[in-house]
Amino acid sequence: MSGKSEESLRAEIEVGRVAGEKALASATDLETLKSAKQSHLGEKSAIAKMSQSLGSLDASLKAPIGKVLGEARNHLNELFDRRLAELTLQRDREVIESERVDVTLPLRRNPQGGIHPLTLIDQEIADIFIGLGYRVMEGPELESAWLNFDALNIPADHPARTMQDTFFIEPIESNLVLRTHTSPTQIRTMLTQDPPIYVICPGRTFRSDELDATHTPVFSQVEGLVVDEGISMADLKGTLDYFAKQIFGEDVVARLRPSYFPFTEPSAEVDIFFNGRWIEWGGCGMVNPRVLETCGIDTAKYSGFAFGMGLERTLMVRHQVTDIRAIVEGDLRFTRRFGMGGR
Ligand code: DAH
Repeated sequence: MSGKSEESLRAEIEVGRVAGEKALASATDLETLKSAKQSHLGEKSAIAKMSQSLGSLDASLKAPIGKVLGEARNHLNELFDRRLAELTLQRDREVIESERVDVTLPLRRNPQGGIHPLTLIDQEIADIFIGLGYRVMEGPELESAWLNFDALNIPADHPARTMQDTFFIEPIESNLVLRTHTSPTQIRTMLTQDPPIYVICPGRTFRSDELDATHTPVFSQVEGLVVDEGISMADLKGTLDYFAKQIFGEDVVARLRPSYFPFTEPSAEVDIFFNGRWIEWGGCGMVNPRVLETCGIDTAKYSGFAFGMGLERTLMVRHQVTDIRAIVEGDLRFTRRFGMGGR
């Protein structure tokens, strides 16, 4: 450095200062800011080198050049500090933004599933009748045509046996059907148990209907059967009244309306008075003596009653469900409202 004029020394310092200013000001992150400081204020920077060799300058130049150098260094250090503060703030903001948690977002819930309303009402009905001393009997869904029809006094030419209603199982000679009602379980019960018989037979049933608002090819029924000494229609009516009150509410009454079923004589439809009107709920009657005889029950000693209703229909009436598909399609939005559990 010695031998240079004061002007050229000042000019050199000015060049280092301007270059440093530019580098510091244009640093856009902490990384580049640090390397800018390294190159313009660090040990190997022009300004640092000049400071180190101040001692070799002419005595008259030491003070003024030292002062200018000091000012340039201070200026660049200040600039660095200011830029450091700005870029640190910027970095912190970016980190906070990138790690932001939106507490208003909906939780991702893993539904645990729920008990389907059909299962619930099935259990509810079982509880009601177990409380009355009944037992629950179950039969197969794939049933012999004899139990599903013949033993129930449904003749070979009965319309319910036609191809339109019944799912017949191939080969036809197998004489197997998907049961069209739970009534064959009555027969199974009477063939295997001696009276007194007090049972309900819940289960899935099948008919070749198209799925629409009021029909479904797979549905559920519950059958009731009592065979004992001295059983009369009054017992049937009392039982249905009690059943209706348990399911629909204390102020509900049942009414019997004359009807026809091959397996009962006399037969009736069960209506309930609910929400201000009579609604058909199921079928019932005194077990036809022909059916009792088929099952080897002494009709001189025993009589019985039976009833059967659809579970989907029971749910629809009780909960004002207008479309049966809501029940059979298993949509959780429905199950959660009418069933149990699973959020
Ligand atoms: N099995 C009949 C049906 O599916 C319902 C029924 C009616 C059952 C009268 C009965 C009864 O036990 O007595 O339509």
